[in-house]
Amino acid sequence: MTDALDQPDDAANTALGTIAAMRELKLELTRFMMSYKFATDEMLTKINILKEEFSSIHDYSPIEHVSSRLKSPEGILKKAIRKGHPLELDGIRDNIQDIAGIRITCSFISDTYRIRDLLAGQRDVTVLQEKDYIREPKANGYQSLHLIVAIPVFMSDRVQPVTVEIQIRTIAMDFWASLEHKIFYKYNGAVPDTLVEDLRQAADAANRLDVQMELLHDQVVARGPAADD
Ligand code: GTP
Ligand code: MG
Repeated sequence: MTDALDQPDDAANTALGTIAAMRELKLELTRFMMSYKFATDEMLTKINILKEEFSSIHDYSPIEHVSSRLKSPEGILKKAIRKGHPLELDGIRDNIQDIAGIRITCSFISDTYRIRDLLAGQRDVTVLQEKDYIREPKANGYQSLHLIVAIPVFMSDRVQPVTVEIQIRTIAMDFWASLEHKIFYKYNGAVPDTLVEDLRQAADAANRLDVQMELLHDQVVARGPAADD
């Protein structure tokens, strides 16, 4: 006797096909997100090696702080819709370059370029884009050095080049950017003119502080080690 369950009808076949397709899609999305996590991990390892090596050999680290974030699948989708990109994974991979983001905070302006050079000079790191908002700050006063890099991620069945956005800035630039970000969101982007002007002045003050601190640091370094070192 044949069980009815052994002869699924067309509707059941279609449902099973849909479930299989959804499973496949979920697996693809997981692999997609994982590739960005692995790329972030690889870059963080590189950054930590630089940090530890500097601290132990030079007794000084140009890196004060490192943080990272991955955009959520919802955030990625929203950005793709906002920018009018095709809503499929390959298109998103090609068009959205800040799914993985790393922020490096340095002590001095010269350190930001030093870290850029040390990362960009590594054999497996390809710089796809650089935006130097330190040399050319944005109109609101924002300063930072932005890199979009690609790094190969070795997975079980393929090698995938994955992009990571790296923002390198000083403590003063970071302080300013966090406050500006809060203000921007508080006013939903429509920041009152007086605050815009105040923020611009604060950015100038932050830049003066950066320059002054670096000059001070250079003077101390030029004097050599303290007598009791
Ligand atoms: P998005 O498409 O929004 O990512 O910007 P973009 O492609 O023009 O890139 P850009 O390099 O200008 O900015 C990338 C990131 O830098 C943003 O997502 C922010 O994290 C940061 N950023 C850029 N401009 C500002 C700014 O004016 N204020 C603050 N606080 N952060 C900024
Ligand atoms: Mg962004």
